[in-house]
Amino acid sequence: MTTLTFLGIESSCDDSAAAIVRSRPGQAPEVLSSVVQGQTALHAAFGGVVPEIAARAHAEKLDDCVEKALDLAGLRLDDVDGVAVTAGPGLIGGVLSGVMLARGVAIGAGKPLIGVNHLAGHALTPRLTHGLAFPYLMLLVSGGHCQFLIAEGVDRFHRLGGTIDDAPGEAFDKTAKLLGLPQPGGPSVEAEAALGDEGRFVFPRPLLDRPGCDLSFSGLKTALLRARDALVAEKGGITVQDRRDLCAGFQAAVAAVLAEKTGRALLSYLALSPAEPALAVAGGVAANRAIRAVLETVSSKVDVRFIAPPLPLCTDNAAMIAWAGIERFRAGLGDEADLVARPRWPL
Ligand code: KG4
Ligand code: ZN
Repeated sequence: MTTLTFLGIESSCDDSAAAIVRSRPGQAPEVLSSVVQGQTALHAAFGGVVPEIAARAHAEKLDDCVEKALDLAGLRLDDVDGVAVTAGPGLIGGVLSGVMLARGVAIGAGKPLIGVNHLAGHALTPRLTHGLAFPYLMLLVSGGHCQFLIAEGVDRFHRLGGTIDDAPGEAFDKTAKLLGLPQPGGPSVEAEAALGDEGRFVFPRPLLDRPGCDLSFSGLKTALLRARDALVAEKGGITVQDRRDLCAGFQAAVAAVLAEKTGRALLSYLALSPAEPALAVAGGVAANRAIRAVLETVSSKVDVRFIAPPLPLCTDNAAMIAWAGIERFRAGLGDEADLVARPRWPL
């Protein structure tokens, strides 16, 4: 095995990112630099990510991200061994910006070009941060995704289930909006929930009565809306304490559903008799302490190691893409000069 240094480029949603990762034989891989330029401010006025605005911002910022990532790593383009780029799934305008830049850079510098599935990038991150061995169980919980995957190999992921409607981060964001809290909703709802009584409003736990690992979060949002409207009808508005209690009830419901479904996913996973059983999380919702705590509890009950990579590597970033590129390259997958961008690309 030789040392590999890869440039990674990510632009599938609202973060423009570039990073350099190096992998040396017999050593833990190193993130030499990771640059992320978010676009939250650009989309704030619209209450969600606007694809055209995102695509334009990526086209404007990505070059700069790549330059910064190389600078911070103290490298020139000549020093990298390959270029990895998110080729989907995501907003097609953004994905295209990344793919076109990566293609230009790779062809110009005569380097291999590797297309990476964004979800595979998240799912391979625990190998970058903790050197996890396959197979391990992965829970992806972000603003756009929610699924259980058994990572069986660099290019082999078995999906056990996922959300049939909203992602949990999206539910947090919508809850914040309904209650007049700032975006992104996750951190603001968590902060309010910490001061609330989770027993006052007991919200539904969708799909718990159905077998399997599928989840649903849209009904929860509707229940919250009803509870809020009932308070408004009764007293003309909601108090600070009402809001805290609503947040606490909402978060408790999300945590309970995730805990139950994770328990089921763990059982399916353990049936494979993994040598080093582990559950890893990725996605912005993994920042939530209450949710982390329940995931840790359900894993420890069945003697499975629980892993949460550092938050900057849990949320969207390009280090995970560079790393997935290295993994694919080592496995003999990729070098795709005719790489295409795909808006939809299930693992
Ligand atoms: O992974 P991420 O940065 O971006 C993608 O969705 O791809 O995740 C962002 C999501 C947002 O919906 C945000 O509200 C949520 O993660 N989030 C949280 C927390 N911090 C961020 N949700 C719950 N609790 C948090 N502390
Ligand atoms: Zn993501």
